[in-house]
Amino acid sequence: MNNYENMAEAVDFIKTKFSKKPEIGIVLGSGLGDFANTMKNTTIIDYSDIPNFKSANIKGHAGKLVLCEINGVSIAIMQGRFHYYEGHDILDTIFPIRVLGGLGIKKLILTNAAGGINSNFLPGDLMIITDHINMMGINPLRGDNDEKIGTRFPDMSNIYSKKLVSIIEDNMKAINLNIKKGVYLALSGPSYETPAEIKMLATLGADAVGMSTVPEAIAARHMGIEIAGISCITNLAAGISKTELDHKEVTETANRVKADFIKLLTNILNQLIKEIN
Ligand code: HPA
Repeated sequence: MNNYENMAEAVDFIKTKFSKKPEIGIVLGSGLGDFANTMKNTTIIDYSDIPNFKSANIKGHAGKLVLCEINGVSIAIMQGRFHYYEGHDILDTIFPIRVLGGLGIKKLILTNAAGGINSNFLPGDLMIITDHINMMGINPLRGDNDEKIGTRFPDMSNIYSKKLVSIIEDNMKAINLNIKKGVYLALSGPSYETPAEIKMLATLGADAVGMSTVPEAIAARHMGIEIAGISCITNLAAGISKTELDHKEVTETANRVKADFIKLLTNILNQLIKEIN
């Protein structure tokens, strides 16, 4: 279902709608999708129209692939992603990433909403992901390996590009955002964590916790793509937060930082485009 031929079919379909080769991919997480609406002269494709894509169905996730060109550089933006907790096969959650890789992207910016574990974090902070811990209980590369996609045992030592971390950091400084960096830990969800679990995750070295991104990062690295990650800390994690967790808080906080997030992403993108040109 999720092999190289399926990927090629989706890639060929997208090429009939948008003939240029995207260099940069962006995945917009919960409540962060509006960035794509700031793009001009876009080609928009519903996930449900792309061969072998599942359809996204969670609130705050649009389920659209937005393609555009800025100063001669093409960009592919995923407005919404497929989560493992929705019940999708893990391969279906990373399929869009493989399709972006198949289209030719060299760099990928992954964004998400996450709970803050690090005691220096506040809701509304943007955290640059420097590394991750996969506690989803599954690896998307399990199973037959197709060498056309990537190597059997891909290295993950430098999964989040140090160069991209430093570019994001510089751009955060330039617009006076507090620099927060850290390790993103992924669980399968969909229940939020217990306070005891959050204590354990803190001990393990996690700064933020969420339910996405890690499989996508693994799949992208497998294809040799350079990766950056930004977490919007939408709430303090269970037991650190004085109140119970609610998805409403996640979308409300994401909405509150939307302007900063859009500005930051726009500036990062402009710098990456300048470097390509
Ligand atoms: N836990 C897990 N996932 C999340 C959280 C959280 O606290 N906030 C946003 N996504």
